[in-house]
Amino acid sequence: MTSIGIHDLELATAHHVVDLTRLAEAGGTDPAKYHLGLGQDQMSFPAPDEDIITMGASAALPLLERNGIEGLRTILFATESGVDQSKAAGVSVHHLLGLPRQVRVTEFKQACYGGTAALQAAIGIVSRFPHERVLVIASDVARYELDSPGEPTQGAGAVAMLVSADPALVEIEPATGLFTDDVDDFWRPNDSSTAVVDGALSVSAYLDALTGSWDDLQARGGPGIDDVDRILYHQPFTKMAKKGQQRLVEHTGASLSTALTAAEQAAAGAARDTGLVTGSIYNRRLGNSYTASLYAALAALIDHDADLAGRRIGMFSYGSGSVSEFITGIVQPGYASRRGAERVAAALEARVPLEVAEYRELHARAYPSAADVETPRITRAPFRFAGLQGRARRYE
Ligand code: CAA
Repeated sequence: MTSIGIHDLELATAHHVVDLTRLAEAGGTDPAKYHLGLGQDQMSFPAPDEDIITMGASAALPLLERNGIEGLRTILFATESGVDQSKAAGVSVHHLLGLPRQVRVTEFKQACYGGTAALQAAIGIVSRFPHERVLVIASDVARYELDSPGEPTQGAGAVAMLVSADPALVEIEPATGLFTDDVDDFWRPNDSSTAVVDGALSVSAYLDALTGSWDDLQARGGPGIDDVDRILYHQPFTKMAKKGQQRLVEHTGASLSTALTAAEQAAAGAARDTGLVTGSIYNRRLGNSYTASLYAALAALIDHDADLAGRRIGMFSYGSGSVSEFITGIVQPGYASRRGAERVAAALEARVPLEVAEYRELHARAYPSAADVETPRITRAPFRFAGLQGRARRYE
């Protein structure tokens, strides 16, 4: 059977950043609650001329510059912060990237799980058309109401992945664990730009979905816990990955490190390090990027773990509502040539800090709804949202 998986990937984020020490102090909260209690240091925040489309196209551009467009006939765009109820965001990305017309484009939605659904669909397409490659883009802006418990877990980011046969980065294995449960833990009504969330329920639903999808993986003949070298989790905030790891330890009886910081890791003793600290390097600074979050964790692991060749990675994808999947993949020998730590560090450093008052003003600004709107030119990204013309979105 042909090996299929992620050939290359790239991460992009938004123009602005909010420092969580500043946010905590402005709200009269102990900053340790955000840094240690949630495991978050910063959150990316988009400029008015940025959205899921500009971030997604910015992630995809260098990917296609490195790999060319030969065989590219499908774009699958996953998001839970969609900008239109009808048109797939990927169609605008297709235009911005100047791709040929002979490409199918569609959008995937199921909260943060959509990126994994798109990845699995891409693998299906490549198994049917082995000479084709699929561009998967997971892009989101996580928004909660100001002064709500979810506020410090906002963020923004996009990951673009090229899925192909004989991938250079990670072969995705066929056995997979699934778990779906109709639960109202987090959702975004059509008339709302912010998510509605039952925080405590969302945490317990996530953990139940983790054991549920793990058990299904075992029932489907997937690898046991001792055969998984690294484990990555969807990270709405990085402490959630630690909670997931703690649950997996209880559930399997394995001795895995649940350290979330380098200091905790040094004190972890004999417990096996499965990459919890390394896999959270980017998400600590991006905040929640919903569909992109798990793949931002994958990017962080690939960029910072020098001993990954031939290793098996487990990846837990959770989308509130809820649908989840536990997949595994084998890191390919040449993965080091795909590493992009310097690029990502530069993008994170280049973000322009917002004072809390500026951030609150930007957050409160309503989404443009007039028929014709010109957005101010702010972002330095390769693409920008120029505004509305006859209510249609315009990008340049
Ligand atoms: N120093 C250190 N730690 C502190 C502290 C301090 N001074 N003060 C509080 N803490 C700790 C608490 O002990 C707690 O830690 P544990 O969870 O380990 O017990 C942590 O900080 C959070 O504090 P609270 O329990 O008081 O919780 P909160 O009211 O701040 O809400 C939350 C936390 C529910 C996660 C909230 O941020 C939220 O609603 N977030 C959005 C929803 C979400 O992300 N859910 C996750 C699962 S759903 C999912 O994964 C899909 C998705 O992407 C949304």
